[in-house]
Amino acid sequence: MENIFPSRHPLVAHKLTYLRDRDTEPKKFRELVREIAALLAYEATADLATAPRHIETPLAPMTGEALAEKIGLVPILRAGLGMVEGTWELMPQAEVWHIGLYRDEKTLKPVEYYNKLPVEPTVSVCLILDPMLATGGSACATVNVLERWGVKKIKFVGIIGAPEGIARLHREHPHVPIHLAAIDDRLNERGYIIPGLGDAGDRQFGTG
Ligand code: PRP
Ligand code: URA
Repeated sequence: MENIFPSRHPLVAHKLTYLRDRDTEPKKFRELVREIAALLAYEATADLATAPRHIETPLAPMTGEALAEKIGLVPILRAGLGMVEGTWELMPQAEVWHIGLYRDEKTLKPVEYYNKLPVEPTVSVCLILDPMLATGGSACATVNVLERWGVKKIKFVGIIGAPEGIARLHREHPHVPIHLAAIDDRLNERGYIIPGLGDAGDRQFGTG
C-alpha cells in the first residue's frame, strides 16, 4: 500500500521494544513516547516545503532555506499528548490544536468531547499525533474534523498500527500519509492491538 511508512530506523526499533515491555514504568514510558515521536516526526516532515531566506553569517551574506508551511500539531487526547513535546522541540513555531476523543468501550466508536478549532484554518499542514491506530475510528474522525476545518495537507504520526486501522484510514483517506514505528499483527476482541503495548493513555498517565 502506498503512503504507509513504517520506520526502519534502529533507534526507533530499540526504543519501541522498551516501550512495549510491561515492566517499563510510566516515567520511562513517557520519555520513550517523547523520543519516538520526535524521530517519527523527523521522518514525516522530510517533504515540507522551504523558501529561500537571505541572511548574513558573521563572514558573508548567503541565501539559506526556511520552512514555508505553517504547521499544526494535533494530538488526540489523551494519549497523543505525550507525543507533543518531542515533536514541538523540532518545530517550535508550530501551533498545537488539541482534539478530545475517546473510544466507547462497547462500540469502539470514537466520541468527540473537545475541539476548540477556530472557524478559519490557521495552518496549512497538520500532523495528527496518536500513539495507537487500532480500528482507525479515532484517526478517521480527526482527519474528518481537520478537512472540515479546511486543512489541505494532513499526516498521521502514530507509534503502533494494527492492519485493520491502517487499512481503514488508508481506504477513507488515501491521501493521508501514515507514519508508524511498527505495524503489529491484529486486534483482539476488545479492540486492543496485539502484541501492542497495552493502553497507551493508562501507561503514560499511571491510570487504569
Ligand atoms: C486510544 C488511542 C487512540 C484510540 C485508538 O485512545 O490513544 O486515540 O484509542 O483506537 P481506534 O483506532 O480504535 O479509534 P482511548 O480511546 O483509549 O482514549 P485515551 O487516550 O483518553 O485513553
Ligand atoms: N488504544 C490503546 O491505548 N491501545 C490499544 O491497543 C488500542 C487502542
